[in-house]
Amino acid sequence: MSVDRSVTFTGIKFENPFLLSSAPPTESESNILRAFEGGWGGVVTKTIGLHPVVNVYGAKAKFMRTGADDSHVSMKKRPGAALHSSWNWELISDKTLEWWAPRIRRIKEAFPDRVLIASIMAGSGNDKELKHWQELAEVAQGEGADGLELNFSCPHMDRRDMGSNIGKDQGLCSVVTEAVKEVAKVPVWCKLTPATADIVVEAAACFRGGADAIVSSNTFPSLPPIDPETLEFEINVDGFVSSGGLGGPAILPLSLAKMAQLTKAFPDKSFSGIGGVSDFSQAISYFLLGCGTVQVCTAAVLDQAVGPTVIKKLLAGLDQFLEAHAATDGWKRIEDFRGARRDRIVLQSEIRRPAAAEYHSGYENVEGYAAPSADDVAVRA
Ligand SMILES: Cc1cc2nc3c(=O)[nH]c(=O)nc-3n(C[C@H](O)[C@H](O)[C@H](O)COP(=O)(O)O)c2cc1C
Repeated sequence: MSVDRSVTFTGIKFENPFLLSSAPPTESESNILRAFEGGWGGVVTKTIGLHPVVNVYGAKAKFMRTGADDSHVSMKKRPGAALHSSWNWELISDKTLEWWAPRIRRIKEAFPDRVLIASIMAGSGNDKELKHWQELAEVAQGEGADGLELNFSCPHMDRRDMGSNIGKDQGLCSVVTEAVKEVAKVPVWCKLTPATADIVVEAAACFRGGADAIVSSNTFPSLPPIDPETLEFEINVDGFVSSGGLGGPAILPLSLAKMAQLTKAFPDKSFSGIGGVSDFSQAISYFLLGCGTVQVCTAAVLDQAVGPTVIKKLLAGLDQFLEAHAATDGWKRIEDFRGARRDRIVLQSEIRRPAAAEYHSGYENVEGYAAPSADDVAVRA
């Protein structure tokens, strides 16, 4: 049976709903071409700014793994250890807008039916900075980008008016989105930081500014562990480290919580989910919460830099899911089950409690809890 993998998201037609997120897999023309050859429905370019950036010495990203027996989380590779997360302090693209412009055009000419979203970033402190956003937007769309993703989420920007510092300020979220929407002829997505008290506030501000979709999550602010032997951070330059971003499997539940807040608050708006996806078994959670597309970074980085195996697994998983549910639930495409579990997240007080006779003070036989003491039993008797 042939299945329908296509989605229309913010008016853009995708042959499948899986994108490489803005990160190393989308930092070059050759990577993006390989990604499309591999089958990705879309890419979000590595974030493009107006001014060249210089990254720190040494590794810009590393991966943490954990052992089955000791739960030790470390960047040191150990046999049998499983991936826990990625950690990075990489800045936006170190290539200029002039470098990107012809490449965006060439990529779109080579793959006109695949989706290229240009991720862009500038400051927000004054009108000149807002004009930078507009310039980036106009050049990218002029070269054929299908949409724009505004980076309000990079967790390691020192400047107060950039990256996640925009995403932490609802006023700036609105103002920048509005400035881009003034010139945008293509859909505008805002990628928000998960590092705020209530992401619904910043999302509402983006929607007020005219955003067509919210993207979440970028990486979570974090530090690498300190090596217990050397007493140095596992990634450092001259012994120093700064806050970086955590991605990969460890952030899946955190990112889902952010997404649930968003999709529940704005059930009729568009959302693209990111965080901890490596195959369909994770992507399904984002779709069931209401996302129309899903993006991937860490898993793709670790799979030949652009994730050819990851996208094959995502597509095979989606196909199998649709085939299995077509007969039982009548689900023939993503739209048929998108958001189907959004209403299952409720207040704690709305969750059913056992009747008095069945209540064991929470001393069920569950992992992590000791058996009830004689005292507890006496209290219940
Ligand atoms: C090395 C690295 C560089 C990244 N660079 C960017 C970037 O330039 N722009 C951006 O919006 N997100 C960037 N991200 C964040 C990813 O796009 C993604 O939101 C995050 O890694 C969570 O997805 P994952 O769990 O699949 O890794 C970067 C992530 C990593 C690991």
